[in-house]
Amino acid sequence: MILSIESSCDDTAIAITEIETKKLVFHKKISQELEHSVYGGVVPELAARLHAEALPKILAQTKDYFEDLKAVAVTTSPGLAVTLVEGLVMAKAIAVALNLPLIGVNHLVGHIYSLFIEKEEKFPLTVLLVSGGHTQVMEVKSLSEIKTVAKSMDDSFGESFDKVAKMMGLGYPGGPLIQELAKNGDRAKYNFTVPLHQSPLIAFSYSGLKNAVRLAVDEAGEDKEAYKHIAASFEHIATKHLTMKLKKYFKLQKPQSFAIVGGASANLYLRAEIEKLLAPYNAKLFLSELQYCSDNAAMIGRVAVEMYKQKMFSELDAIDISPKSSL
Ligand code: KG4
Ligand code: ZN
Repeated sequence: MILSIESSCDDTAIAITEIETKKLVFHKKISQELEHSVYGGVVPELAARLHAEALPKILAQTKDYFEDLKAVAVTTSPGLAVTLVEGLVMAKAIAVALNLPLIGVNHLVGHIYSLFIEKEEKFPLTVLLVSGGHTQVMEVKSLSEIKTVAKSMDDSFGESFDKVAKMMGLGYPGGPLIQELAKNGDRAKYNFTVPLHQSPLIAFSYSGLKNAVRLAVDEAGEDKEAYKHIAASFEHIATKHLTMKLKKYFKLQKPQSFAIVGGASANLYLRAEIEKLLAPYNAKLFLSELQYCSDNAAMIGRVAVEMYKQKMFSELDAIDISPKSSL
């Protein structure tokens, strides 16, 4: 079995995965959403302190598996430096104590493998990753053949939901809050401009839309009724931006198997719009189970199973975090 640790942002999670069967025998996650909610976003130092508290608590519940462990895996990139370190220090301590090899996992590869928890991997796949930190399209042929073909030039899709929710004083994370508010709003009420709609670039940008929403929120003042229309119009345009750029990309590369992963892949409007987009191509849509869309250690363990088979280990004194590294 492999013990895997995830602490790249505001979720502390540990999983135990059986190598041969890929079975997830243990998974526990402690989310810090409530603690960060008052600040309208993740406060790195607070996050690090909460990981330091939560990691040993969860680890204590995995003791019965220790004798069956063959490796320890940990998210080493990308993420917040101060929180990645918490996971890495714990992984190193376990590796030393139990004399196990270490596996450093890229969090974005983890999101891709959230599709394959307790399942066989299946490639090739075109993947749209929409999370709090990233918005990108990748062509994935295998674990080590991942090519990013489009990405955001500034904010991410999920982050824009977080920022809009903060403007409205709704709390954190903004994704589910905006989705809920948008349900009863008029998507056509606010005519926000679709980002980069006149640009030939196949890339994403959310900072302009965020600023347009800020003006609308300021103008609405205390008119809470207007907020639901702003939320609905924002969700519509944020999604339309993705589907318009994907449509452009599909002219170059026809989709066959398409997946949406990452925390924001839980968004129901996005899922429905992507389904509509894929229909004419007869392309299959793959999604992670809802519980594995947001950050978790099961996806890190699933990547680690493949890395273990390929002996992709890291030396104890060479393994390090790489907060900014991407795919
Ligand atoms: O993958 P994730 O858990 O963390 C990162 O790796 O960043 O993604 C978290 C992001 C947050 O920005 C959150 O607001 C967003 O996913 N999110 C959503 C929804 N649920 C979560 N965004 C839009 N709609 C949702 N339903
Ligand atoms: Zn993530």
